[in-house]
Amino acid sequence: MSNKYKNNFAESANNHMYIGMINESSLEKEGGPLIVKKAEGIYLTSYDDEKYFDGISGMYFRNVGHGREEIAKAIYEQLTDVSMNVYAATTPVAVKLAKKIADITPGNLNKTFFCQGGSEANESSLKMAQAYHVRNGERGRYKIISRDGSYHGSTYQTMWLGGHPGFPRTDYHPAPTNLIHVDQPNYYRRSIKDQSPEEFAEYLVKDIEEKILFHGPDSISCFLGEPVSQPLGGVVPPDNYWPMVREVCDKYGILLIFDEVITGFGRLGEWFGSNIVNTTPDIMSFAKGVTSGYFPLGGSISTKKISDSFLGEPKKSWSHMYTYSAHPGGAAAGLKNLEIVERENLVENAKKRGEQLFENLSEIKNKYKIVGDNRGVGLLQGLEIVKNEETKEHFDSSLNLNQILTEKLKNRGIWIRVPAFILPVAPALTVTKDQVDQISTAIDESIGELEKEIS
Ligand SMILES: Cc1ncc(COP(=O)(O)O)c(C=O)c1O
Repeated sequence: MSNKYKNNFAESANNHMYIGMINESSLEKEGGPLIVKKAEGIYLTSYDDEKYFDGISGMYFRNVGHGREEIAKAIYEQLTDVSMNVYAATTPVAVKLAKKIADITPGNLNKTFFCQGGSEANESSLKMAQAYHVRNGERGRYKIISRDGSYHGSTYQTMWLGGHPGFPRTDYHPAPTNLIHVDQPNYYRRSIKDQSPEEFAEYLVKDIEEKILFHGPDSISCFLGEPVSQPLGGVVPPDNYWPMVREVCDKYGILLIFDEVITGFGRLGEWFGSNIVNTTPDIMSFAKGVTSGYFPLGGSISTKKISDSFLGEPKKSWSHMYTYSAHPGGAAAGLKNLEIVERENLVENAKKRGEQLFENLSEIKNKYKIVGDNRGVGLLQGLEIVKNEETKEHFDSSLNLNQILTEKLKNRGIWIRVPAFILPVAPALTVTKDQVDQISTAIDESIGELEKEIS
């Protein structure tokens, strides 16, 4: 082993694995990637026995916290009974989970297609929407409206939805030709300064309607967005935004798809983001929090209007599948995970601790010039680092301030890899009052130190 790596696994990982998204030469300078050998509650223990507070719950999925033996046992017991699906069949445990999700999702969402994760969920939702239109005799509806600043996955189609600096797509041209991009409802970044939040939303929805008319309403299949989007630090739209988008979609026969891959299952202090924004979509994509990531599982749940369109003669059926859809191991993990969320009142805890976190981060924002904004709701929040409070200009990326901030947090026992200019904060829904203060203090000190060094 060369001595630049912390341990054998770190070296071997860099030699034999694509970790994804991260530059391996930078990892080499850090001694290799973090190798987690144990995770318990809200903490990670590295191979070298360093203990870190997991500041973003893995990747915004570990809602019930780490080390839940009862979920591991539920998966084990299920796999010893039946551990797969045969073609065109399912299992009791998957049926139970589908029913449970129909019960807790808002409005009349009632029928789920299961897959393995968020990208597949969004792919499935997009295909479902397009097939629905074909069944209704509208074969020409194939275009998708999505928002800049969002992230919806890594497959070829989903990566071209949304778009933000942390996920460059420069290697992957050409882009699909069926995309229409509109603006993110990020009030902090509005171009007209004296707009109220409501006026800002009206302005954005007017632009959406103009784009629909420009591209031809009859050519548009769906509008896909997260009720509250994560990449820009928890963008909570003005209250009137989603109801107005819903209205415009209905006016032109466009389906509304919510990507609740992060926001679903309690993270925002309500069961779903849909509850917070008072809007029910036609199709909802989910993943992450449904099993808290104890088993790869995602899905697309639709209303009866959509599912009924696939009934009748055989050629009307929806042509879509994955080999591991509705895997019984994932379904067992999901059921046990949701039981824990309910038993331990974790949705309420996310709301309370989210309010505390928001207060703490607001204080940090007011204290430091380099924090332009804090935003978010529940346990999906973030701070935006800026060079200039007035112009909201960002620091030059060559300064690598995100890496420096990551290191400062790490030195204080917090594991948050800061992407670009947003410092995301999204602990597990089990987080306690003291733990919220612990992470807030570490962020406060790290930003204070950075600001001093820069000035
Ligand atoms: C909102 C959102 N949608 C979709 C995805 C893609 O999910 P996956 O990585 O499970 O494919 C993510 C992943 O972070 C996400 O945050």
